[in-house]
Amino acid sequence: MILIGFFYAEQCSVENSTRRHPLQQETPQETEVPTRVELCKADQVAAGTALRVEAAGLTVAVFNVDGQFYVTDDACTHGPGSLSEGYIDGDVVECNFHNGQFDIRTGEVVSPPCMIPVKTYPTVVEGGAVFIEVD
Ligand code: FES
Repeated sequence: MILIGFFYAEQCSVENSTRRHPLQQETPQETEVPTRVELCKADQVAAGTALRVEAAGLTVAVFNVDGQFYVTDDACTHGPGSLSEGYIDGDVVECNFHNGQFDIRTGEVVSPPCMIPVKTYPTVVEGGAVFIEVD
């Protein structure tokens, strides 16, 4: 009787656990596959400009740098600034709030007062639309 109770408890803990037995194969559903999210049409973002887009719970800035598209979080890492409303000079965007600057291609800080890089997203243009890949 005690053994049956132990077995039942063991089964319940396995069902409620996300841990996998070492011999259990990973199923395709458990593999992390990036999700592709359509943000806008490429022709909505002229060269040298940016567009603020909300999609999939994200608020991002889509930049067109000489025909190449890049996507970052729209929120400045320093404060309430919106990078899509910033000043763009080549591949640098200057925040519209305290004038900190970021590299649009990498998200790295170019100029203070920003200290933390802004998140960038893998970006694909396909069929005239701009997509990002999110985990
Ligand atoms: Fe962007 Fe301060 S909020 S530089």
